Amino acid sequence: MTGLENEINRRRTFAIISHPDAGKTTLTEKLLLYGGAIQLAGSVKGKATARHAVSDWMELEKQRGISITSSVMQFEYRGYCINILDTPGHQDFSEDTYRTLMAADSAVMVIDAAKGIEPQTRKLFKICAMRKIPIFTFINKLDREARSPFDLLEELEHEFGIGTYPMNWPIGCGQDFKGVYDRKEEKILAFHEFHRGQDKISAVTCNLDDKETLDGLIGQKLRVSLQEDIELVDGAGYDYDLDAIQCGALSPVFFGSALNNFGVEPFLNWFLEMTVSPLPRVSKGNVIDPFNPAFSAFVFKIQANMNKAHRDRIAFMRICSGKFVREKEYYHVQSGKTLRLPQPQQLMASDRSVIDEAYAGDIIGVFDPGLFSIGDTICESGMALQYDGIPSFAPEHFAAVERIDTMKRKQFEKGILQIAQEGAIQIFHEPYSGFEEVIVGVVGVLQFEVLEYRLRTEYGVEIRRRDLPYEMIRWITSEKTVPSDLNVTSDTKWVQDYKGNNLLLFTAQWCVDWALQKNTGLSLAEFNSQE
Ligand code: G4P
Repeated sequence: MTGLENEINRRRTFAIISHPDAGKTTLTEKLLLYGGAIQLAGSVKGKATARHAVSDWMELEKQRGISITSSVMQFEYRGYCINILDTPGHQDFSEDTYRTLMAADSAVMVIDAAKGIEPQTRKLFKICAMRKIPIFTFINKLDREARSPFDLLEELEHEFGIGTYPMNWPIGCGQDFKGVYDRKEEKILAFHEFHRGQDKISAVTCNLDDKETLDGLIGQKLRVSLQEDIELVDGAGYDYDLDAIQCGALSPVFFGSALNNFGVEPFLNWFLEMTVSPLPRVSKGNVIDPFNPAFSAFVFKIQANMNKAHRDRIAFMRICSGKFVREKEYYHVQSGKTLRLPQPQQLMASDRSVIDEAYAGDIIGVFDPGLFSIGDTICESGMALQYDGIPSFAPEHFAAVERIDTMKRKQFEKGILQIAQEGAIQIFHEPYSGFEEVIVGVVGVLQFEVLEYRLRTEYGVEIRRRDLPYEMIRWITSEKTVPSDLNVTSDTKWVQDYKGNNLLLFTAQWCVDWALQKNTGLSLAEFNSQE
């Protein structure tokens, strides 16, 4: 294997997803601990400090105690180079999560053992399923009262339509939590309260028939139910099937307690064993091999003002093939420009370090002078690539937005355009009108708050917002349609996006149906695939 192949081969890039409070932040911290990226997980003082140290940048996030932005963390462990893509927990930012998932090769789904699947887990899972990437499930908080593991697995299988394969099995829960039984290695990992913090867990190799040792470890009652449970899962559960895992049809399930650092290390080890090196991506119908030495990447996220002191904008790109070299010039397909990527960096917690090289599977952030948009391709000159665009979500909430101070036209225009370019909002306008009043569409209403906050703090513009009653948006895709001639309900509105595409805003599904029925030849699309 060449040096390049070896570097790519040892990379693993995954996104971590969960409903808020299931334990995503805690699990991430413990994973980083194994890579030595955080000195001692026990030294992290409390969630508030930890969170802000790792992934929160915006003041607003601090005020609301939610994570809006996603971040990328890289660490080395047992010869692997691991990239974790953190995703915002709040549902109003699921579009951001969606884009982040586009950059990952697998996903880790954290579930609270007492709650099971929650709304946000459901939504995120659907996105993973669309991409058919492997999904690993970590069922967390076994040190608390939990639902029956059978119930939890059944719920996953039933709701998500996938198989599950419990890699380990919990022994009791809450006060009675004694540890887990590792089904593949046939050993018991014993849980002790004092493992809170960074201690390693003691593992006892133990045959399930060895009553005496087992009784000594977990007591007779739990031993009996463990034996019964394992007999049942062995007999009635799915078989271990690596191919099915790797195409997302079977989810390996791990039980543990992230807070107590219990079950995290075995999880990481199995995860590395079962996942593959960076997956190929598709450009114009062609599959691009990640081991192809020529560099190529796509932009999946743009983030402004991550660092207040710099007031900058960072474009995050996922490297799809080859090796990135800092000094080299690359081709930005969408603008047709050749350029050196400014200040390429990798992020670790709130620190950034400028890097000289990176490989397929890695995420790099480059300083964006306002050139890049989400979905853009950057590659070695002459490669003629264009990675498939990232479709934008159809917004579900709309508001008309105008500036209060009429003098601030330039700032308003610049701010709203830039924020839209980052993909944080979508903007539209009435035909033949400019920037006096902008119609803003968002997937989650909190995005309006982010818009107001950012326009005020970053661009010095106060805005007035008038919520609009529309709930649906459709792009007009039939070429011959003349929007002004359409027969639509009186509450349907014709607008344009800033690329000049025509759209219709509707207040209800029946208005969409009406438009389609009354206008022969009209075709409407729910998604706009970004070019
Ligand atoms: P999130 O990123 O998914 O939103 O969840 P986060 O890790 O912030 O965890 C949410 C809460 O659950 C935190 O408690 C955290 O300490 C707790 N937690 C995480 N894993 C476990 C676990 O294995 N067992 C138990 N018992 N609790 C767990 P908090 O009270 O909100 O914060 P803190 O005061 O503990 O820091």
